[in-house]
Amino acid sequence: MLKLGVNIDHVATLREARGGEDPEPAFAAMICETAGADSIVAHLREDRRHMKERDVCLLREMVRTRLNLEMSIDAQIVSIACRLKPDQATLVPEKRKELTTEGGLDVAGNPVKIKNAVRKLQDKGIAVSLFIDPERKQIDAARKAGASRIEIHTGQFARGKSDEGRAISARQIKAAADYAEKQNIAVCAGHGLDYHNVKMIVPITQIEELNIGHAIICRAVLVGLAQAVSEMKALLER
Ligand code: PXP
Repeated sequence: MLKLGVNIDHVATLREARGGEDPEPAFAAMICETAGADSIVAHLREDRRHMKERDVCLLREMVRTRLNLEMSIDAQIVSIACRLKPDQATLVPEKRKELTTEGGLDVAGNPVKIKNAVRKLQDKGIAVSLFIDPERKQIDAARKAGASRIEIHTGQFARGKSDEGRAISARQIKAAADYAEKQNIAVCAGHGLDYHNVKMIVPITQIEELNIGHAIICRAVLVGLAQAVSEMKALLER
């Protein structure tokens, strides 16, 4: 069965909106795991806009499935990851001004720095995945950098405006997944997947795991809203 990694960054984003303690990302992780998540994904960004070091340390202690730390190749972040020892590190490009990760990592264009980061993390026993666009040259570069897994960026597919556009992107993703699998690289995918478009990705059997955040947290806000209101209403009873 296709595995599900749940990205819980938005739980921390909501907490940061008020600068308080709630909602607690580690608590959210426990609920995701109980509901069937196969891994918990958190992105410790250089600007610490949502997840903080304290969060990923707590997650490291509490996550029972697998902790997948999304991160840039910044030296400070790499040394935090080496101390934290998540089960997996997913290397992503990072820009300060972006709202979310925009493109895949240009492994082909930056092979030395990326290979060094991969090696440092692997030396600590951390599995390393590279978040890349569905292109052969990036898959070849990922293999040369020593990565045992890749995460195919599904952002372009998800942004597709028509069924035809999405079908073309899905075919590119399938071809890339096939190419990577033939080279013994484990394949994950993610970004922008939701309750509708995921149906076109699920049949791609080379993909082992999907990492999904935004759509799941959005849905949680809505489907959990009725319970939250009725619990508060019950507290107001005199
Ligand atoms: N995979 C990677 C590498 C990401 O950067 C993100 C966003 O943090 C996701 C998956 C999840 O994307 P979304 O929140 O759009 O589901």
